[in-house]
Amino acid sequence: MQRKLILGNWKMHGSTESNAALLAAIRERMSRENTNVDVGVCVPAIFVEQARSALQGSAVAWGVQDVSAHVQGAFTGEISAAMVAGFQATFAIVGHSERRANHGETALVVGEKARQALVAGLVPVVCVGETLAEREAGATDAVVRAQLAAVLEAISVDDAKKIVIAYEPVWAIGTGRSASVDEAQATHAGLRSVLREYDAGLDKLRILYGGSIKPDNASALLDCDGIDGGLIGGASLKSADFISIIEAAASLHADDSLHVG
Ligand code: PGA
Repeated sequence: MQRKLILGNWKMHGSTESNAALLAAIRERMSRENTNVDVGVCVPAIFVEQARSALQGSAVAWGVQDVSAHVQGAFTGEISAAMVAGFQATFAIVGHSERRANHGETALVVGEKARQALVAGLVPVVCVGETLAEREAGATDAVVRAQLAAVLEAISVDDAKKIVIAYEPVWAIGTGRSASVDEAQATHAGLRSVLREYDAGLDKLRILYGGSIKPDNASALLDCDGIDGGLIGGASLKSADFISIIEAAASLHADDSLHVG
């Protein structure tokens, strides 16, 4: 079983005060024994310097939840991947369903964002996932395959080896209803086959599951070959919950120390 990656997605939450306590608690957990897990937090971009100063020198990586598809220029309000990389960030989530749905991000834009993240030396965490209507229409596999393929087409095979994928069914995000282990594993297997068809060297990429992971379902979801970690929204905002998900991942037997961050 591959070493797991547990990533927090804070979304638009936090304040300088609450962040300080949360970051300190995560750092403290990862300074103890049994750190058989990779951990990171993807914070609102305005807090990336706070994350850097709280986490540098620790076993916890940091990153952001989006980057611009552009290198630089007249794009008011946008933040480039290179700017983020200047804060020693590791991760940039791209293609989260909230951005696809609320900000009109197309598959092409998501591919370009992933490409820009890679050019800047960041690890893009490429989110894919189907809506409830798509699942009920039996289209899950086709939807997530197309979302992943659009990103792979935008980047080189060598760069593709550096990405992380997160399968996040839209109906499971923030709803309290996570995918079952079987549902997650089936979709992960489909994504895995897209990677294999693209290049045999992509077989080791980490595919995270995200969508209502909580302390009480984390072990069941993470204790599966093929589910290589979790992208955690709501539960990453409470230190006790996030740390208990880290514990669940750290207690699994991992025979592979692929390190990101
Ligand atoms: P959730 O969010 O854990 O609150 O469901 C996950 C995500 O959107 O990344």
